Amino acid sequence: MDPSQVKIPPMKNLTVDNITENVIRINSLCEDQRMKYILERLVTHLHDFARETRLSSDEWMTGLRFLTEVGQITTDVRQEYILLSDVLGLSILVDSIDHPKPPGSTEGTVLGPFHTHDAEEMSAGDSMSHDPEGEPLLVVCTLRDTEGRPVEGVKIDIWETDSSGHYDVQYAGREGPDGRCIMRSGSDGVFWFKAITPVPYPIPHDGPVGRLLKKLHRHPYRPSHMHFMFEKEGYDHLITALYLRNDPYETSDAVFGVKDSLTVDIGKVGPELSKKYDVPEGHALLTYDFVLVSDEETSQLRAYNSKVALDKLGRKVKIVNGLPVPDLD
Ligand code: BEZ
Ligand code: FE
Repeated sequence: MDPSQVKIPPMKNLTVDNITENVIRINSLCEDQRMKYILERLVTHLHDFARETRLSSDEWMTGLRFLTEVGQITTDVRQEYILLSDVLGLSILVDSIDHPKPPGSTEGTVLGPFHTHDAEEMSAGDSMSHDPEGEPLLVVCTLRDTEGRPVEGVKIDIWETDSSGHYDVQYAGREGPDGRCIMRSGSDGVFWFKAITPVPYPIPHDGPVGRLLKKLHRHPYRPSHMHFMFEKEGYDHLITALYLRNDPYETSDAVFGVKDSLTVDIGKVGPELSKKYDVPEGHALLTYDFVLVSDEETSQLRAYNSKVALDKLGRKVKIVNGLPVPDLD
């Protein structure tokens, strides 16, 4: 609609009961239909939240001070807003909505704040960790599409902590990447490398998000895991991780990332693999078969899920650029 044609009533004498519809009305000049829809729902939920909790001014000031502190501690390497989204369960929720997975494909999980763009490209068999205290681990994986065909030439970003539970970027004197690498899948879809057995670690909790967890009597720990990110044109970007079974935090991850399908046992290298990969028998072994989904399959599933979810809420929507907007026709 032409914004000049939208009739905006005078914004005065607004009350607890009519402020919401009026804020939505003045925001409706926005020509971007998707942004308009998001703002409409955001204002509706924020206002309902204040009305339902009977929010006091002091409480709202406390909330604003908290958000200010989250902003003040945030830098390129200290992403407190990502942490906040993670501990509120919003990161995993958004990932599940935006990257739906058909049965049999690899599920996604939280990205977290420790991915970097400076990992070195390594060759099959290279070691991505230089921590002498870590337990050496052989990692052998395959990568296929949903039809079971190997996917070649995928850029695979992998990262993990050292044996003390710290990522390289958490050290003040960091000279370069460690505990991270980039691999490419071969024509058989296989990629393999050497790493260390992951350990549990606390998310950064010396800031406002840590204080929030403490108030809520929540611990800050993540179970042992290794992160993987897969990118190839034509395939849905997959951000995932593998979690170790029977970790003490398997069922209480501070950021809600654990899924059964991503939980693995650490095995032992037998005689055959020992020869093939030139590691001693008994060496720790992690194997996994990843399954990537095409962009096409993902966008169809995303659109279908959107329709079903919004139908349930009684909302008529159409899909524009893959995302729902109100259907006013
Ligand atoms: C991580 O796994 O690296 C992570 C995820 C969420 C918050 C903090 C760390
Ligand atoms: Fe992590």
